[in-house]
Amino acid sequence: MKTLRLGMIGLGGMGNIHFDAHVLNERVTIVALCDLIPERCEKAIEKGNLTGVKVYTDFREMIDNEQLDAIDICTSNDFHSIIAVYALDHGLHVFCEKPDAMNVTEVQKMYDAYKRSGKILMCMRNNRYYSNSKYLKQFIADGKAGEIYCGRCGWIRRRGIPGRGGWFTTKAKSGGGPLIDLGVHMIDLSIWLMGNPRPVAVSGSTFSKFANNTAKSDSVHSTFGVANANGTFDVEDLAMGFIKFDNGACLQIEFSWASNIEREERFVELRGTKAGFKWRDDGSASIFTEDEHGTIEDLNPKLPEMGNGHFRALYHFVDIVLDGAPKDYEPEQGVNMIKILSALYESAQTGKEVQL
Ligand SMILES: NC(=O)c1ccc[n+]([C@@H]2O[C@H](COP(=O)([O-])OP(=O)(O)OC[C@H]3O[C@@H](n4cnc5c(N)ncnc54)[C@H](O)[C@@H]3O)[C@@H](O)[C@H]2O)c1
Repeated sequence: MKTLRLGMIGLGGMGNIHFDAHVLNERVTIVALCDLIPERCEKAIEKGNLTGVKVYTDFREMIDNEQLDAIDICTSNDFHSIIAVYALDHGLHVFCEKPDAMNVTEVQKMYDAYKRSGKILMCMRNNRYYSNSKYLKQFIADGKAGEIYCGRCGWIRRRGIPGRGGWFTTKAKSGGGPLIDLGVHMIDLSIWLMGNPRPVAVSGSTFSKFANNTAKSDSVHSTFGVANANGTFDVEDLAMGFIKFDNGACLQIEFSWASNIEREERFVELRGTKAGFKWRDDGSASIFTEDEHGTIEDLNPKLPEMGNGHFRALYHFVDIVLDGAPKDYEPEQGVNMIKILSALYESAQTGKEVQL
């Protein structure tokens, strides 16, 4: 059986989840692992009970020395574009964690390298692969929602700052706070469900009110990254904004790592001419529409388990590379995503709407 010869870069919190997915996939051969902290690679190899896997601390050395088909990037955000460009220019397919890159210059470099390489570039969009997401995508494709013309989405936490003082809260390493960390997830899910309209204008505000707050996290999702008590916190902890698209549709967005709200919530709520719907983080979805008597009703379809979006996204990447499976993600969507996020940061600074 032909397998994908893979090298992984970054074996921290998310890298270990990817590693588990690859170990379970018999169509993947993990050839080499790379991390600035080599013990993280050794630990993973032991966990996966693997033999013959080479360990590197320099991703260029790994790419130059090994016969790889593809790499999987799970480093902090500052290295996504640098590593992706190097790998694509060396003829490798690339899977990369979100956000695609830290800013527009970097994502454009990644996109240009993808174009000249003829290889696959896919960035993590785990939310597209949950059962409720797939159900809603099909509902819309069947024309049951009508024209989707507006909506709102967000991921708002009460107390859930990842790795305070580490790379997540250091702008030079992350590109920003919850907007770039969580925004990619829910904005992407919304735009994907809306049929990928092109963003044309963005406005928004950002706040940093919890940089010195050391209250305990109440979010199971904030365990990523390593905290550093003497480190930097120069990113926002909350962002709110508004995106307009070329088809006239609009999307309200809100993302926080910390705010005084009722409860943590991840949500997408879109409104169509025939039906509206809400995607929830518990795997459910509701449809709001009229019945045959003209009375508005809530439909709560019974859906399968939400599933593991990260694993499904990674398996899809392998299917694309090995079998030429139709792609779910286009790098143009990554460029548009980073343009939206960068424009919101610009709007927050200037106080003006930014045209894309
Ligand atoms: N899709 C999701 O749900 C999700 C969730 C959490 C994190 N993430 C993303 O995953 C990525 C990693 O996040 P994390 O929480 O695992 O961070 P982490 O700090 O736990 O792990 C990052 C690892 O990368 C290594 N690294 C950094 N630069 C490197 C380089 N140049 N060469 C080799 N190794 C390098 C670090 O030593 C560390 O082990 C980030 O981009 C983050 O946004 C995605």
